[in-house]
Amino acid sequence: MRGITAAFLLLALLTSATQCRAAESGAAPPAPMKQTAAEAALKSAGCMSCHTTTDSLTMHTSPGVTLGCADCHGGNAGVFRAAVALPTSAEYRRALDAAHVHPRYPEEWNYPSSVKPPRTYTLLNRESPEFIRFLNPSDYRVAREACGACHLRIIVAAERSLMATTAMFWAAGAYNNGILPFKHTIVGEAYTRDGQPAKLLTPVMPTPEVTRRHGIVPELSPLPSWEVFPPGDVFVSSSAAVATSSPSSPRSATRTRRVSCSGSRSRDAPTSASPTAARVPGCGSQSRS
Ligand code: HEC
Ligand code: HEC
Ligand code: HEC
Repeated sequence: MRGITAAFLLLALLTSATQCRAAESGAAPPAPMKQTAAEAALKSAGCMSCHTTTDSLTMHTSPGVTLGCADCHGGNAGVFRAAVALPTSAEYRRALDAAHVHPRYPEEWNYPSSVKPPRTYTLLNRESPEFIRFLNPSDYRVAREACGACHLRIIVAAERSLMATTAMFWAAGAYNNGILPFKHTIVGEAYTRDGQPAKLLTPVMPTPEVTRRHGIVPELSPLPSWEVFPPGDVFVSSSAAVATSSPSSPRSATRTRRVSCSGSRSRDAPTSASPTAARVPGCGSQSRS
């Protein structure tokens, strides 16, 4: 069973893997490494008719960094707030709409409010890269465009870090639950510019010895869609499950047994006292090695 599951997982990984992040440029040009102060000011002018002032106009404390708002965020810096337009007026809203980048899903974002919905995780993968860059120019899907001219090495290293991929979490989860028979990680999270799952490749190919000793792996594949696993229903009562599994359907019987057994494999439940284990043949003998 475990072998079949692992093979299934590997197959899913191979078919769902798309190669490294695409770096094609979006609507706004990438932030330039060098420009004059006057050029940068033009790319902030319209924005600053509403976003009047802040502690650091470039988001950097160093005066050596010359950037306009639109270099990082995109948007149209040539749109100005009419001096008399109050934030509640239609005129102000028209200017805001013309200057800002619009989301694909305005209702889900409560556009134009900046108040974010509670969970934006999968929503971000469906959004346009231009809007993601507008909200957060440092998002890894678009950071190359907003920050890459000056920070490419950091971006490339940071998107492969454990903090970004949570690879160790998935490795531990897969090994401890018997999904994968080894402790080295092969899956991690990364996304392309347009929100597709991405495969990460290491820049220096490790030898098998380096992998064994230091856990440096040649690549991380995207996680498979969870739908490939029939979810075990832990709330199914074992008597009901056994009663509904007909002997003429071996597949459903196997599944029922697996579900029931998984209950008895929980670390806190002593196997002998568990009614599930008592009723389902073979449960007590399951081992995780
Ligand atoms: C007409 C006024 C106006 C102009 C021009 C304007 N903004 Fe805004 N912007 C606002 C207001 C008001 C908000 C906050 C909306 C809210 O939360 O209700 C905002 C919000 C934002 C946000 C946060 C968006 C979010 O959903 O988190 C960003 C980023 C931003 N503006 C960047 C820019 C940039 C870059 C420009 C220039 C290209 C610009 N704005 C031009 C008025 C303006
Ligand atoms: C070096 C690139 C860079 C420049 C230049 C820059 N920003 Fe930002 N801005 C960012 C990043 C990165 C964030 C953080 C987004 C986050 O935390 O999600 C941010 C956040 C913001 C936010 C809050 C967004 C939110 O989701 O609530 C606003 C508003 C904003 N910037 C407006 C401006 C304006 C106006 C200018 C020009 C005066 C400007 N920014 C210049 C990179 C930049
Ligand atoms: C035009 C080049 C340029 C771009 C584009 C740029 N940076 Fe920087 N950044 C710098 C330089 C130069 C420094 C070092 C400043 C120093 O040492 O004082 C720096 C430093 C930083 C630091 C360290 C803290 C600080 O303020 O010194 C952070 C964090 C940072 N950048 C984030 C970003 C992010 C995120 C983006 C894109 C949204 C970005 N930068 C885009 C040039 C740039």
